[in-house]
Amino acid sequence: MNNGQRTTFTLFYIVPKFPVAMTLTDDILSQPSFDAAIRTAVAGLKAMQPTYDWVGVYLLEGDPSAGSGQGVLTLQDDHYRGQPTSHTRIPLDSGICGAAASSRETIVIDDVRRDSRYIACSLSVRSEIVVPIMAGERVVGVLDLDSDTPAAFVESDRRELERVAAALAQAWQVIPGEQPAGRRV
Ligand code: SME
Repeated sequence: MNNGQRTTFTLFYIVPKFPVAMTLTDDILSQPSFDAAIRTAVAGLKAMQPTYDWVGVYLLEGDPSAGSGQGVLTLQDDHYRGQPTSHTRIPLDSGICGAAASSRETIVIDDVRRDSRYIACSLSVRSEIVVPIMAGERVVGVLDLDSDTPAAFVESDRRELERVAAALAQAWQVIPGEQPAGRRV
């Protein structure tokens, strides 16, 4: 008789860390422009976890197929939440962001001080995750999160952030209108 109640309780118990994740991907995909989708994603993620100290989306400009270093990841003013950074243009052969975009794979850094690729945006940062935003085989940009907490990004964070990156890639493909930096072709 109580099976339904018990199931509901169990679901809430198993997934307490990201109760609004489904809503965020829905919000991203209901925006009228890709630019608004990015702003929705970074604001939603910044509010999701207290350890997400900096959240931003860099978009890829240039032609990555022309060879290593030919593309540049660019950060627009309203595409991040957290401390302002001077690193608004990152070549594909630089930083953790460039490495993630070039390899097309998520990179998790538990201690940024021990990774020579790391470009420091703030001295307080201890860990970082960068997730490529992939529209099929095309790299549209990267989702970049910094934390002042060491090893802040665990497997559940990675899964959720990859879901948000996938929603942004879908938004880039399906929402009509001019794209701010990424390219459709
Ligand atoms: N740490 C990044 C640079 C971007 S800032 O964190 C905002 C990197 O190494 O690519």
